[in-house]
Amino acid sequence: MDRVITSAAEVPAAIQAAVERPPCRRVLMASPKHFKVESAINPWMRDERGALNQVDTTRAREQWRALRAAYERIAIRVDVIEAPVGLPDFCFAANQSLALPGVVVLSRMASDERRREVRYFEHWYRQHGYELLQLPDEITRFEGTGDAILHPGRKLIWGGVGPRTEEAAWSVIARETGTDVILLRLVDPRFYHLDTCLCLLDERSALWVPHAFDDASRASIEAGFSRLHAVSDADAANFACNAHCPDARHVLLQQGSSETVAWLKSAGFVPLELDTGEFMKSGGSVFCLKQELP
Ligand code: ARG
Repeated sequence: MDRVITSAAEVPAAIQAAVERPPCRRVLMASPKHFKVESAINPWMRDERGALNQVDTTRAREQWRALRAAYERIAIRVDVIEAPVGLPDFCFAANQSLALPGVVVLSRMASDERRREVRYFEHWYRQHGYELLQLPDEITRFEGTGDAILHPGRKLIWGGVGPRTEEAAWSVIARETGTDVILLRLVDPRFYHLDTCLCLLDERSALWVPHAFDDASRASIEAGFSRLHAVSDADAANFACNAHCPDARHVLLQQGSSETVAWLKSAGFVPLELDTGEFMKSGGSVFCLKQELP
């Protein structure tokens, strides 16, 4: 259970072999107190004219609080890490780490702008008694659960390789954490993190943006999930795949993805629509704003 899988033929057996994992009961969110768009490190952070998006700080805080309340309403405990000054993307708590059962892998942020965020998460995890794994110095790009999505109910990683995470990170993580990783290559710069184009719902269901992946990766996803829904281009651009389904039932997602919402309902899920508009100005939505804690 420490292999990097690149062939679709090996996916079903890897899923079968992965140990079971209890459902998510707790998430870590990071305060949006100092959130803003200060520079553009992904294609979503500028408007049509090329100017940096302007964040409404008050609205952002309200949206963040509503997301937190939505988790609490479905009985998910929310822990909060305070934000230091001068780190405008700190609130995207998906990225600084990957919390696996038994060990937390600390990220190597791809951009200078975000590099300093990790040490604050490291401190929080230490204070809360988590075991930590630091990647070797040769690994320069790994952005946590932005590119690492755990298979529902299993200790198995769907691992993205793209602008934010390098392939070499995955062999180290597979080996050091004893977890199989199914490798997925991202090919469209707009879908710069795996969590912008793939949302795992339950053992057999997922939302995805097929054209964000290369052929082999598409085949792996098709081998892993029998009920796949390709979201429309409009919903993909509305961050429909940046949804979070913590319990194989409720799906927290950005409001306005009507076609995805209709599909979710028809498939028996309960969509909970939220406004994350201020965070979308920075290229993120629901999934980016939390870290599932084991
Ligand atoms: N502005 C942030 C960045 O570019 C957004 C991160 C969104 N996080 C995510 N998991 N997709 O890093």
